[in-house]
Amino acid sequence: MNTQFGKFITLEGGEGVGKSTQMAAIQSELQAAGIEVVLTREPGGTPRAEEIRRLLLSKDAEAMPDTCELLMIFAARSTHLHNLILPTLSRGTWVLCDRFTDASYAYQGYGRGVSLDFITQLERIVQQGIQPDLTLLLDAPVDVAMQRARSRNTMQGLGDGDRFEVEQSSFFERVRKGYLTRAGSDINRFKVIDASGDLDSVSRLTRQAIKAFISGLPS
Ligand code: TMP
Repeated sequence: MNTQFGKFITLEGGEGVGKSTQMAAIQSELQAAGIEVVLTREPGGTPRAEEIRRLLLSKDAEAMPDTCELLMIFAARSTHLHNLILPTLSRGTWVLCDRFTDASYAYQGYGRGVSLDFITQLERIVQQGIQPDLTLLLDAPVDVAMQRARSRNTMQGLGDGDRFEVEQSSFFERVRKGYLTRAGSDINRFKVIDASGDLDSVSRLTRQAIKAFISGLPS
């Protein structure tokens, strides 16, 4: 039995930075290195957490207080960690997660203005020390990324997008600043990738970052 823990990789960034394409690039890079990986996302990843995601993204008439939003995100995270992330890592398989707690700091903390200390308390209670081993942050200017997100929504018939995507650009400027601030304060875990270029060049940078991470692991 493989008793070694798998690695936990997260992918972060604002709307329209191209996370889906880069999830696929990371998956293929890991598989090429013979590494077994499970792909998942937040909010979501398990049936209960996906239900919570639907509630979080839908533009219902009932107002969503910021505290309610944050608690729902951590409720989803709790069941996701317990039922998918931890069991997968503990059998030695890697986990690649589209967004994790850095998104809560960036969106709820910097974007909405929820206390960062409150988020840290929830992080401690829910995660009990579990942190990503590597976080790739896809970074692009907000106007470039928002334009991409709008064209994608139009092409997929999604209208003006979900409850987060309809936010003003000033909100996404704060989210971007939040992500970059966190990346700057934890340079060992974060790798910032310039996502303003075309898909091929961004994928190349992503693959390089994954290769560097793998080659830095003890053999
Ligand atoms: P996605 O569209 O990238 O799948 O993410 C859904 C939305 O959830 C996205 O707009 C960001 C938001 N979100 C938060 O606000 N806080 C969080 O902690 C997470 C994981 C996502």
